Amino acid sequence: MAGEIYKKPVMFAIISAAVILIGTIVTMFAPMMMSHMHPKLENLQPFTALQLAGRDIYQREGCNNCHTQTVRPLRTEVMRYGEYSKAGEYAYDFPFLWGSKRTGPDLARIGGKYPDAWHYRHFEDPRGFYPKSNMPSYEWLKDRMLDAEDIQRHMDALNFPYTSENLAELSEKTEMDAIVAYMQVIGTSISSKADKQKKRVDMEEMTNPLAKDPEAIALGKELFEENCSMCHGDNGEGDIGPSLIDDMFLYAKGDLADKHYFNIIYNGADEGTVMEGRAAKGGMPPYGEELQKDEIWSIVSFIRSLQGK
Ligand code: HEC
Ligand code: HEC
Repeated sequence: MAGEIYKKPVMFAIISAAVILIGTIVTMFAPMMMSHMHPKLENLQPFTALQLAGRDIYQREGCNNCHTQTVRPLRTEVMRYGEYSKAGEYAYDFPFLWGSKRTGPDLARIGGKYPDAWHYRHFEDPRGFYPKSNMPSYEWLKDRMLDAEDIQRHMDALNFPYTSENLAELSEKTEMDAIVAYMQVIGTSISSKADKQKKRVDMEEMTNPLAKDPEAIALGKELFEENCSMCHGDNGEGDIGPSLIDDMFLYAKGDLADKHYFNIIYNGADEGTVMEGRAAKGGMPPYGEELQKDEIWSIVSFIRSLQGK
């Protein structure tokens, strides 16, 4: 009996088409109607003229042949890059630049991860930071001025709002300024606060178990050169990030205890982070996922040795 259907090709085609159609409707169209599948992103704004110019350069240079702009909802991806991507984030992306090849890391959460100065230097010389990087140098973008008229036409075509001041600004900016401005806006419509909250560790009673340990200091030196010296200088004297050897911590006089060093290395700092009443400006990346706790303590011991403490 059950085999009968296979002898009736027309009937079989109709029935199987109906079954597939029902499956499609349930899995594709039903979610379209459910409002919780389309969270409204309060912070989402159309690109500014400068950001859009940067986005055009991103496409022109084929950055998306090496970089994706979408974090999949998988645990490993979320741990590495942050909150997974939501459909609504791409509302102003014409065309979207998800990409499919990750020669370099995903960029969906790059906005705000580093200070502007980091990006300028990285685009000029990626190997200055990561000796094995195969990302090309884009130093020449510094020498090319933006074409305000061209960008205005793109803004008009996409119906993005702008003012004549926005356009006037452009003629003093380079392509490098534009690509950096674009980097800093990607992914910022999603707050990563919830993400960060999860990672916070209890700092109340913490003391450095590896203080003054010579082996830890040696390991800390290695880790510091690998991860930190690009922003804080080889000997913690400061560069893109503040000096670690002066008597200041987050722009206020008076050094803080080891646990606060641990805290800022583990959690990073965003605009709005406050530690002991001191307000951070942002730009310090978190290392809690990358480094083990004793590795972080080793770095703290190394910084203390630089300070002569
Ligand atoms: C040949 C492949 C390749 C191309 C093309 C390329 N990149 Fe990269 N990119 C990489 C690799 C590999 C890394 C990781 C090492 C590093 O940071 O230099 C990287 C890192 C980055 C980072 C730092 C990411 C992070 O989270 O630390 C940014 C930002 C970036 N690229 C932006 C760009 C932009 C914008 C372009 C186009 C103008 C571009 N890349 C073109 C390979 C590439
Ligand atoms: C991309 C650049 C960058 C990297 C890499 C970086 N930092 Fe920072 N760091 C900053 C910036 C910027 C601040 C200021 C934070 C703020 O204002 O929110 C900062 C602040 C700090 C502070 C507070 C010190 C003070 O005087 O204000 C410490 C401690 C610190 N970083 C340690 C480290 C360590 C250790 C590493 C490596 C594991 C590291 N940083 C890697 C940019 C960086």
